[in-house]
Amino acid sequence: MTIASRLPFEIIRDPAAMRARAEDLRRDGRRIAVVPTMGYLHDGHLSLLRAARAAADVVILTIFVNPTQFGPSEDLARYPRDEAGDLAKARPCGVDLAFCPDVAGMYAPGAQTFIEVRELQRPMCGETRPGHFAGVATIVAKLFHLTQPHVAFFGQKDYQQVALIRRMVRDLDFGVEIVACPIVREADGLAMSSRNAYLAADERAQALALSHGLAAADAAFAAGERDVAALIAAARAPLDAAPAVRVDYVELRDADDLTAITTVTGRAVLAIAAFVGKTRLIDNRVLGAKA
Ligand code: PAJ
Repeated sequence: MTIASRLPFEIIRDPAAMRARAEDLRRDGRRIAVVPTMGYLHDGHLSLLRAARAAADVVILTIFVNPTQFGPSEDLARYPRDEAGDLAKARPCGVDLAFCPDVAGMYAPGAQTFIEVRELQRPMCGETRPGHFAGVATIVAKLFHLTQPHVAFFGQKDYQQVALIRRMVRDLDFGVEIVACPIVREADGLAMSSRNAYLAADERAQALALSHGLAAADAAFAAGERDVAALIAAARAPLDAAPAVRVDYVELRDADDLTAITTVTGRAVLAIAAFVGKTRLIDNRVLGAKA
């Protein structure tokens, strides 16, 4: 790939125009990577864009705050948005095309077709956020149809989301390679998230309880603990000690299919969701893996 063959940067808002452009790119023999986001980009998102740049000829960033993955009492209306800032951050990472549709473009009036990944959508975040993963699976499927990627990049930060998308791609023959990238953290360990912008100063300090909980469980695992209840108790201690933190769940499950386990025998993922004040944060760690 030479610089000369890179395409001039463009923004597309119309879904039909996006699909036509993607079809042209495919016809030209270009390998397309897509990085789906809801915008308000941080270094976690940018790491996906850099990984995509290294793996494809054309990097498409999608920015769309998808209403169908938000519950009625969730933060859709106040979800942070900054398209100009996002594009300024994304372009130096080598993005060729930003697809930034609006809600009316993406959802026809009366839309009633949704993708449900039956089992993987149920536990963990699915319990607190009913309908969330049907919204995610559906929008990702639609974005795949419109951008026609060979490869798509997601963050391990949303562990259940990547597992579900992998399953959907396999079950519905999308033929898109799914790459999961490591969690990018602030210097003190807090997983980067667009929602960190909601945290007041004292909440920001207490939000460290999530990464501390993961580290505590990983230390117990390294010391030989394999009992799931004991590992969960180790993870919960820092969370329960932080007054602004309310645990939504702490779960330790099979790292591949997210089924419940009672003893760790293979690869297992510890996942935490907790409200810090009113802000719901998630984090996870595969036990015994590099943090
Ligand atoms: P969003 O929360 O904007 O995240 C976009 C992508 O960035 C996701 O794949 C997410 O896992 C990844 N990401 C977020 N924080 C990260 C971090 N700290 N380190 C590494 N990667 C990180 O996830 C969504 O949007 C939406 O559900 C979407 C897939 C776009 C569908 O609407």
